[in-house]
Amino acid sequence: MNKEWWKKAVVYQIYPRSFNDSNGDGIGDLPGIREKIDYLEYLGIDLVWLNPVYDSPNDDNGYDVRNYRKIMDEFGDMGDWEALLEDLHERGIKLVMDFIPNHTSDEHRWFRKSRKSRDNKYRDYYFWRSGNEKEPPNNWDSVFGGSAWKFDDLTREYYLHLFSRKQPDLNWDNPEVRKELYEIMNWWLDKGIDGFRLDVVNFISKNPKLPDDTTRGPYGSRGSKYYVDGPNIHSYLQEMNRKVFAGRDAVAIGETPLVSVDEGAKYVEPSRNELDMIFQFDHVTFDLDDGGFWSHPKDWNLTELKDIFSRWRKVAARTGGWNATYLSNHDQPRMVSRLGDDANFRRESAKLLATLLLTISGTPFIYQGEELGMTNYPFSDISELRDVQTINQFNEMKKKGEVEDFEEVKDKVRFWSRDNARTPIQWTSGENAGFTKGEPWINVNPNKESINVEAEKKDENSVLNYYRDLISLRKDHEALIYGKYEPLMDDDEEIFAFKRRGKDETVLTVLNFSDGKRELSLSKLIPKGWRGLLLSNYPDENLDEERTNINLKPYEARLYLLE
Ligand code: NOJ
Repeated sequence: MNKEWWKKAVVYQIYPRSFNDSNGDGIGDLPGIREKIDYLEYLGIDLVWLNPVYDSPNDDNGYDVRNYRKIMDEFGDMGDWEALLEDLHERGIKLVMDFIPNHTSDEHRWFRKSRKSRDNKYRDYYFWRSGNEKEPPNNWDSVFGGSAWKFDDLTREYYLHLFSRKQPDLNWDNPEVRKELYEIMNWWLDKGIDGFRLDVVNFISKNPKLPDDTTRGPYGSRGSKYYVDGPNIHSYLQEMNRKVFAGRDAVAIGETPLVSVDEGAKYVEPSRNELDMIFQFDHVTFDLDDGGFWSHPKDWNLTELKDIFSRWRKVAARTGGWNATYLSNHDQPRMVSRLGDDANFRRESAKLLATLLLTISGTPFIYQGEELGMTNYPFSDISELRDVQTINQFNEMKKKGEVEDFEEVKDKVRFWSRDNARTPIQWTSGENAGFTKGEPWINVNPNKESINVEAEKKDENSVLNYYRDLISLRKDHEALIYGKYEPLMDDDEEIFAFKRRGKDETVLTVLNFSDGKRELSLSKLIPKGWRGLLLSNYPDENLDEERTNINLKPYEARLYLLE
């Protein structure tokens, strides 16, 4: 196996808007990140993935790019960005930029020109179709609610937008579009960045007929079967690889919602030269019922979750590819509120999930605030929400008469909205959690009093200190990076256990995902015994007499070094 640098990296995802505000305008910024590089070093981070910082009208917080070669004013300027890159590199931390190949902003120069007439060079950069005033060209739904088409009065045609109306989809079948995008990517790589996270990259190739969808796909929406892993996706990614990544030591990480195992295998198989790793979505959709984003979370089974992790690890093993491991990001609710128990066992379950993230195979991606055990936010009014998806979906439901007021969707928003993960990082217990001296663009979580960096640094049993221990353990034990993944107790509904078998040593992870105690026969699990306990999420464990049977406490996590 090739041991590329990104295989052993521990990644930290920064959502700049909510990370640290240096100038008091209430919005996090690049100089704010620079102020916190010590923190990244203290944690043991090797690589930062920065969410979009390009010039944008911010309909979707930067995922609507107006100019790919300019920095968003609120975040600073190119000088600030260059200084950030330099500071990170000086500390040995690499930087991956987010790149958005599927769509631009409607304020992007290309789209403004494209809109003007039915025949201009830029018309074919996007998808324009005629339909009629009452009915769009097909019945696809936008991921953010409503139709995926917007009628434009100027030329009396519709354009396609799989996301918001301000995010028109680019037409990748036009070679000019691909050429322009590759040029931009090369421009950034020439500036010295270490790779890209490619936004919804498996949506870029659409079925050229844009057919009506007679079925409902995941989240109850229509159209995805005609654009997820579409007809030319692999040839486009191979072309991108040749034109952009070939000959460089840069990593290509694909965000691939709804990806199937078969297509996923193709993206990561090294000999195909497409992507280095992908973010699959099975473990962040398995607890949704048919109502999609508006469903109450379904009761989920641990066996199902384990099966998902194993399935994707089998893909990596079969293809010689690699996994990207994540439990949360800026689009998902806080993981401790979702898979853990943020009311009764917040600390323990946050640590348990951290143990899973950092000891299972694949490159681990920590989302900002996860290392503090940050939780979902208790939203009580739509005015507190900022996320275009939550707001659009709510308005759509109101329009259809499905709901009347916020109260009816409150629990769902509290559970699902992307804004749960976008509240500011809690640096201190002080005003605005030390995030800004101004008015924060989104509320700070009231639990900043107890959950914050300052307090957690001082507390040796904090979630933060546990993350540091785990990260440094990962660096000391190669088995945790390259070791073979061997799942155990597949059928158990409470215990998630696996071995990582390395060249010289094997590490065992045992996680009690239940809120009750659990006895386990260790002698059955590891007949040869163990050399030592590497880590546990309960302090002051007296484990000496627990050589054969172990007694796990609620949400207990243990890591053993085996004989
Ligand atoms: C995925 C991004 O992670 C999300 O935040 C964004 O809204 C969509 N892609 C559209 O760009």
